[in-house]
Amino acid sequence: MSTGGARKRLIGPEAIELAPRVVDPVASTEDELLRSSLRPRSFEEYVGQRAVVESLTISIAAAKKRGEPLEHILFYGPPGLGKTTLASLIARELGAALRPTSGPTIEKPKDIVGVLTALEAGDVLFIDEIHRLGRVVEEFLYPAMEDFQIDFIVDRGAYAKTIKLPLKPFTLVGATTRAGMLSGPLRDRFGLRHHMDYYVETDLVAIITRSAQQLEVPISPSAAALIARCSRGTPRIANRLLRRVRDFAQVCADGAIELDLARESLRREGIDAAGLDRLDRAFLRTIAEQYRGGPVGLAAVAASLSEDAETLEDVVEPFLLQRGLLMRTATGRKLTPAAHEHLEQSAET
Ligand SMILES: Nc1ncnc2c1ncn2[C@@H]1O[C@H](COP(=O)(O)OP(=O)(O)O)[C@@H](O)[C@H]1O
Ligand SMILES: [Mg+2]
Repeated sequence: MSTGGARKRLIGPEAIELAPRVVDPVASTEDELLRSSLRPRSFEEYVGQRAVVESLTISIAAAKKRGEPLEHILFYGPPGLGKTTLASLIARELGAALRPTSGPTIEKPKDIVGVLTALEAGDVLFIDEIHRLGRVVEEFLYPAMEDFQIDFIVDRGAYAKTIKLPLKPFTLVGATTRAGMLSGPLRDRFGLRHHMDYYVETDLVAIITRSAQQLEVPISPSAAALIARCSRGTPRIANRLLRRVRDFAQVCADGAIELDLARESLRREGIDAAGLDRLDRAFLRTIAEQYRGGPVGLAAVAASLSEDAETLEDVVEPFLLQRGLLMRTATGRKLTPAAHEHLEQSAET
């Protein structure tokens, strides 16, 4: 999945240049720079995901009462839904330090040993993209999670013996977008597992309204509702779209975000009235024009678009399915009548 520079992509005979997607749910550098200002600082500020938040606050209160470390927690779900935010809120609520790291940066056993031995009692170790830990590294985590110790095997053959290195009790918070890629033994060592789901529009409106307040930009309720509708159930996208619309409002108007201005600004970002961007439309158009509306396998569509199948499955399909534009059938992907209608109306791009 790319968030970097412009990408060339072949669609049908003509090559088109696609800028980085404004609706990419994966964090961009801009998001990283700005996240401190918009990221919720307490569970009260954290909008939605009520079931997860309630269950977490109870677990945290109980652990505090017992004076024990909180159980290890796994968050799984699509990017941009607030997993990293929850990890930092948990640490804050526990009054503990957050030690963030991620699967891809821990390459060798010595990396994870270094991280684990540096932990202080009660620390929250956050491993993002935990499904990308190597198998050998993962095996060091098992005794660390279960008994707060690391097992080393020294020597070989008949003289092999295990040396146990004690660790301070800690809480591991893992996050993954691909729970299916997590090994069973690792998954089972998390006492608490929470699935994160896409946000409903009223929650997104609340997030956009709060963010607008923090950015000190006036926004009308109908403009907030429109941006929410185009945000694919994802707070990160909602905040990014809000920032784009705000820039447009400040340059082309008096700074206030009204419905018409929001609509025009989103249109300039390539987002149409249904909230679809160019990649969504290219996806639908490919199925319509090259595969007669389907059914067609995802791999074939991905090849036609020169796009990665996993990316399409993660960041394009959920939205199209939810919008009733796409169906998944036993024989492949198929457009709905609404999708054909939508393509007729949006003959551009
Ligand atoms: N429940 C929420 N309420 C308000 N803002 C949120 C919420 N969840 C996420 N955000 C916003 O979306 C951004 C992305 O969240 P993040 O925790 O980084 O997602 P993830 O780790 O799941 O990819 C945050 O910086 C924050 O601004
Ligand atoms: Mg994250």
